[in-house]
Amino acid sequence: MTKATKIVTIIGARPQFVKAAVVSQALNRAGMFEEIIVHTGQHYDENLSEIFFAELGIPEPAYHLGVGSGTHAVQTARMLEAIEGLLIRENPQAVLIYGDTNSTLAGALAAAKLRIPIAHVEAGLRSQNRDMPEEINRIVADHLSALLFAPTTGAVAQLQKEGISMANICLVGDVMYDAALTYGSRSDAVSRVIETFTLRDSEYALCTVHRAENTDDESRLRAIIEVLNNVARKLPVILPLHPRTLSALKRIGLDRSVGEGIRLLPPLGYLDIIALQKNAAVIITDSGGVQKEAFFYRVPCVTLRNETEWKELVDLGWNRLADLNDVTGSIRTILESIGRSGIQDVEPYGRGDAADKIVQILSQRISAQVCVSN
Ligand code: UD1
Repeated sequence: MTKATKIVTIIGARPQFVKAAVVSQALNRAGMFEEIIVHTGQHYDENLSEIFFAELGIPEPAYHLGVGSGTHAVQTARMLEAIEGLLIRENPQAVLIYGDTNSTLAGALAAAKLRIPIAHVEAGLRSQNRDMPEEINRIVADHLSALLFAPTTGAVAQLQKEGISMANICLVGDVMYDAALTYGSRSDAVSRVIETFTLRDSEYALCTVHRAENTDDESRLRAIIEVLNNVARKLPVILPLHPRTLSALKRIGLDRSVGEGIRLLPPLGYLDIIALQKNAAVIITDSGGVQKEAFFYRVPCVTLRNETEWKELVDLGWNRLADLNDVTGSIRTILESIGRSGIQDVEPYGRGDAADKIVQILSQRISAQVCVSN
């Protein structure tokens, strides 16, 4: 019997669980991999972590590093130390990392120093804004990776512009689209969130806010609440709160300014958030993943940022950026988005087979031993 190819998957934050779920299933289907899942513990609350493993059917992690929260340096350093130890012990043929979190960065650094080939899922994304910690993580992860799985043609072009060889870049589409196709209908069958909150189809706005640039900047957070309070005069606003956002609101006493039309919810599991997305009149967000999910379910989206790494959605008319320095303009942008469609019949994120493509490339490159480090 041939020996299975050993892959270590490093994940730690909510969006990574969604991405890894579909790739993990594809690895399993291929029947030639031994996947060792490592949960860094960056996210540890039940609603940010365990619920995703349960709903998405992700196998129990072989390692749980329990690093928890901290400054960027502290959190990343704790992960680095633990990941190095387990990589030495496991000696895998490749390390799989996802997206742009501190868990991605730590996985990339630890593997690169041990000269273990890195495969980066969601490579080539750039906001061109280095004030975002995620932008730093993306750049480092991409430049240390041997295999760069790009979700879009724009991401491929960006990597080439940065001097990365086309031999290392693979355009595969977006694994989040695979996840939307896999779990979208399951959400209809399982989620009761619409009934629980007595919501009516297309008669509410869904909002998510968690980015440091919004939560840690008092004037931007004030502007967001002012915008949402105004939108809530026209239609209810559903606002599931990331713990970072809740504590920021409390810290500056803004929780008392949240008006009646805004319903604050705890963070939700994947199937509930999909149900809320699908039925919303408009989605207001600062999350990268939610911008794309809005498009997958063809719901207009307004992004509470000055730029986005998912530029194609702006070009296609499905997403609009709101300038929070202009509260009146932001309210107008949101209300005008309701009922608007962008360009239909486009597939900027592939055909929902990104995970299978990734696994096929991994099997070819690793067995041919051409998965060389950059
Ligand atoms: C991280 C990612 C971000 C991603 C997001 C998804 C980085 C730099 N950022 O941001 O790209 O979009 O995850 O949600 O990696 N906290 C809890 N419980 C938890 C986890 C966090 O209460 O389970 C609170 C803590 O106060 C913590 C804060 O949230 O300090 C921020 O958590 P952190 O993991 O640093 O970043 P996120 O904001 O979640």
